[in-house]
Amino acid sequence: MDRKNGRRHGEVYTNLEVVHFLLDEVGYLSSSNLENVKILEPSAGIGFFAVEIIKRLAISAKKFKFDFLEALNKNIRLVELKLSSFDNLKEQVKNIVIELGFDNQGLKEDVFINADFLRLDFPCDFDCIVGNPPYIRHELIDRKDKEFYKTQYTTFKFRADIYILFYEKSLNLLSKRGILSFICSNRWLFNQYGRALRKKIAEEFHLYKLLNIEKTKPFDEDVIAYPCISTIAQGASGYTYFYESEAQKVELDKISFRKIQAPKDESWSNLFLDYNLNHKVLKSIPEQGFKIGIGVATGADKIFIKKETELNGIEKSRLIPILKSKTLKGHKLNWDNSYVINPFEGDELCELEQYPHLEAYFNENKAVLMKRHIAKKNAKYWYKTIDKIKLELIKTPKLLLPDLAGSKFLFIDIGKFYPHHNVYYITHKDIDCLKILACLLMSDFMKKQLAQIGIRMNGGLPRYQAQTLKKVRIPILENLSKNNIRELIKAYDTRNFDVMNAIVNRYCAQIF
Ligand SMILES: C[S@@+](CC[C@H](N)C(=O)[O-])C[C@H]1O[C@@H](n2cnc3c(N)ncnc32)[C@H](O)[C@@H]1O
Repeated sequence: MDRKNGRRHGEVYTNLEVVHFLLDEVGYLSSSNLENVKILEPSAGIGFFAVEIIKRLAISAKKFKFDFLEALNKNIRLVELKLSSFDNLKEQVKNIVIELGFDNQGLKEDVFINADFLRLDFPCDFDCIVGNPPYIRHELIDRKDKEFYKTQYTTFKFRADIYILFYEKSLNLLSKRGILSFICSNRWLFNQYGRALRKKIAEEFHLYKLLNIEKTKPFDEDVIAYPCISTIAQGASGYTYFYESEAQKVELDKISFRKIQAPKDESWSNLFLDYNLNHKVLKSIPEQGFKIGIGVATGADKIFIKKETELNGIEKSRLIPILKSKTLKGHKLNWDNSYVINPFEGDELCELEQYPHLEAYFNENKAVLMKRHIAKKNAKYWYKTIDKIKLELIKTPKLLLPDLAGSKFLFIDIGKFYPHHNVYYITHKDIDCLKILACLLMSDFMKKQLAQIGIRMNGGLPRYQAQTLKKVRIPILENLSKNNIRELIKAYDTRNFDVMNAIVNRYCAQIF
């Protein structure tokens, strides 16, 4: 897929500060003797890393008096798939060799490899591997490539992005003293498709360092990526140096790392929290009397969900105002006049003869409704929605958590609407408890926890899912002082995020 700058093949070039950082990470230092250090860049692009590698080698050669070109030809390997980038890469390397005062005629072709790294057969072991592997989402990977990767790689699981395979292959190419450092999306740290890679690293390698720099911009253009830098070495695992930041600008050379036990298995989610999730002052949401649910799935939204103007006289008692996730966007709850047509009467399907307009409408759409799995299973249910519609849920106050299209603010429906399938909801008999819960969920403390236990973010806002909502641990409401409760309720009503954060931070201070 081409982007606005015309680049494809998962190309996002790395800025110089990161290039320096990664090379330092793997110990490719101009102050060291690099004569026999084999280094690989598996997706070299137009040579951002390559140029710096060569500069460092030249300084080292001078210092330790070895033959620069001989060492370059013997030890540096640069792989790039895209021909135009590859040509550019060669050009850059030749130029830098001349700039450094050497004759580029001595440069051997072996250094440059124009091929798919994932299909390459490498004879040698590398002491250092650095890079910024391509990101290509699973659905955009060529079908034939996918089949091939499945047979060749153990980490190509679920909807794995191609960068996962760059990790696997590169890790397998490390020499006995080898070390790798990549800058990459951070998705694999916590999600399902990263599990096999996490397991491989935990069991066979040493996760030496991890920087999760969610919002910084380490690339030479704006991209929607959530980068992390991981440095992984051969050998038994000991400690991991961990750093996390949401700041826009991180000075990589001034970071102070937290030393934690390296992961021992594929579950990394709690590992990087700087507090104990099981601390006695935190409890899960269901443990505190809340119920978590998901809105109605119909199996045919186009037929069951209609705007007020499209209802063709269907009996009013059959119509329930429904809230979709996109109506929870922005500053206020913007119901879009949609209704779900309710085929139920209590627990049973309604008798269609009693609702002639509804009957006519369903009959008009019978062919489509019959195609649904639920109708095929039992023809009697041909006009049933997949989930039962529970009328009592309309009147119950509920905190609404949109699956995708989010708002910074979490809305509460005081009892007018039914949630659609793309909305999770939390109910409680006391609306004030819902307001307090909303404040807790909107706090920075919680956002961090949500991100770390694997809730995917969408433009900085969490994507909620029932299983993760059940996992998060929140302050115990009963432990909050009367004053804090009053302040939180007011902060919810006035949307004062500062107050929410201040109260939550004060409470949570005891667990750090
Ligand atoms: C994210 S860019 C990084 C470029 C460079 N390493 C940098 O940091 O500036 C990824 C590069 O990988 C290349 N690439 C994509 N698929 C590849 C493959 N299968 N084998 C080798 N290179 C590939 C792309 O053409 C692109 O130049």
